Amino acid sequence: MALHILCGFFLTTFVFMQTLADTSSSCTDCFVNSRATYYPHSEQNGTANGACGFGSFGAMVNGGDVSAASSLYRNGVGCGACYQVRCTDGGYCSDNGVTVVITDEGSSDNTDFILSEHAFDRMAQTTDAAAYLLALGVLHIQYTRVACNYPHENITFKIDESSSNPNYLAFVIWYQQGIRDITAVQLCEVYYIYTHTFSCFQIILLNQTENFECKLLDRSHGAVWTSTSPPSGPLSIRMLFSDEDEQNEEWVVPPNNLPADWKPGQIYNSGIQVNF
Ligand SMILES: *[C@@H]1O[C@H](CO)[C@@H](O)[C@H](O)[C@H]1NC(C)=O
Ligand SMILES: *[C@@H]1O[C@H](CO)[C@@H](O)[C@H](O)[C@H]1NC(C)=O
Ligand SMILES: *[C@@H]1O[C@H](CO)[C@@H](O)[C@H](O)[C@H]1NC(C)=O
Repeated sequence: MALHILCGFFLTTFVFMQTLADTSSSCTDCFVNSRATYYPHSEQNGTANGACGFGSFGAMVNGGDVSAASSLYRNGVGCGACYQVRCTDGGYCSDNGVTVVITDEGSSDNTDFILSEHAFDRMAQTTDAAAYLLALGVLHIQYTRVACNYPHENITFKIDESSSNPNYLAFVIWYQQGIRDITAVQLCEVYYIYTHTFSCFQIILLNQTENFECKLLDRSHGAVWTSTSPPSGPLSIRMLFSDEDEQNEEWVVPPNNLPADWKPGQIYNSGIQVNF
């Protein structure tokens, strides 16, 4: 009898410990329950006028599988983040759903996502199922943050059309890979320190060192970073990548600088991609 009670005690303790271990394990597979709808007339692409300020990238990236977010927009920090979204009706919805990139802000009827119609369709098992889901308009969904993946792209700077060299620089960052957020951006003036030696008839350049003077930029809205009176000369743009809980942060310094004669509307390859 005593043994029986004792065993019961150990068994409960064991089960309790198991439960603790499970909840404290990492949550990469945890889905949150929510609702999603779609932008009308967006069969192929999303919107190029999204709140993130991405322009055409916001419509076409990820094959047009993009979305507006409400609270996940996070005042623009959520721009460029990727989510796996799946609807829950097993008769019509595929297991994996679709992976979307946030390029806009918006909510409708208690939704977390307003998907492009293209992305909304892709949650369905078949074309017929997609027609059925479209007719419903709003769906129960589950979502989880996932890493964005751009295997053939570097991080890219698109100079906003509102810019004017040399008075005002505004740009967005395209192809932000991985699962972190860009939480701060620095603009650094690049200048050189030269070491000379003098011989009787000439100056000999011994060495040339790149130096940087940096300032933090403002996020004007969405994914748009701005600077009034940016420094002249080549500019180095540095980005701080943070976990959502800001436990892990890392500054990334791209090898390529913006040229001194940067132009509104131009696209510049940073020469780097991240994998965290
Ligand atoms: C949709 O995106 C494609 C590129 O992915 C582009 O060629 C096309 O013009 C876009 N369509 C619209 C209506 O914006
Ligand atoms: C130039 O200076 C930098 C730092 O002062 C040093 O690391 C580098 O080796 C020098 N290069 C040459 C060619 O002397
Ligand atoms: C990315 O940057 C690297 C290093 O600068 C370069 O070699 C490569 O061609 C770039 N890739 C793309 C897709 O632009």
